[in-house]
Amino acid sequence: MNSRLTVKQINGDCQEILRCFYIDSEFLDPIDEIIEKIAKNTKEPISSPFGVYRDDDIVSFFTLESSNPNVQMIDDFVGSYWLDSFFITKHYRGRGLAKTIFLEIINNVKVYFPHATSLNLTVNFRNKIAKKIYQDCGVLDTGMIYRGGPAGPQHIYSISI
Ligand SMILES: CC(C)(COP(=O)(O)OP(=O)(O)OC[C@H]1O[C@@H](n2cnc3c(N)ncnc32)[C@H](O)[C@@H]1OP(=O)(O)O)[C@@H](O)C(=O)NCCC(=O)NCCS
Repeated sequence: MNSRLTVKQINGDCQEILRCFYIDSEFLDPIDEIIEKIAKNTKEPISSPFGVYRDDDIVSFFTLESSNPNVQMIDDFVGSYWLDSFFITKHYRGRGLAKTIFLEIINNVKVYFPHATSLNLTVNFRNKIAKKIYQDCGVLDTGMIYRGGPAGPQHIYSISI
């Protein structure tokens, strides 16, 4: 499986992909918000959509953002990119692929954004599966917390790349 995974930037409209493969989860923004955010792509923060593919099949969707407007910019975050809207499509969920997919995402940040120095993300306190995946892949808890999300407080995690 690993050797056949490819990360590709989604150029153009990704509405159709999202409408087909989006997973309804309390830990994701509503689909229309994700679509709207990507549509504003030319303004800061840049939100670039990506797919992780196995051959022609989409296995996972995520965005990389040039900054996070919800989090106060501190020196530690200069040069950071933010992972957002990350999910594994229904067909591929629960198969033990999440760590492989997430490591593939980390490996590709610098491919698309060579000046990136770290990858940050926010993860809901209650999202035990996601927290375990990130921690197992070497992502560190910064100790900072984002409290503004509708689903409850989120840890801010970060990994140097
Ligand atoms: C979070 C998500 C990406 C994980 O993908 P997945 O395919 O379900 O995960 P996997 O099958 O690879 O399992 C990952 C780990 O969690 C464990 N796990 C899976 N389901 C579990 C459950 N219900 N309870 C406890 N552990 C569980 C697995 O055993 C595995 O650990 P291991 O690799 O040490 O064996 C996926 O569930 C998803 O898209 N969720 C909705 C959106 C989301 O929460 N995104 C993250 C936002 S920060």
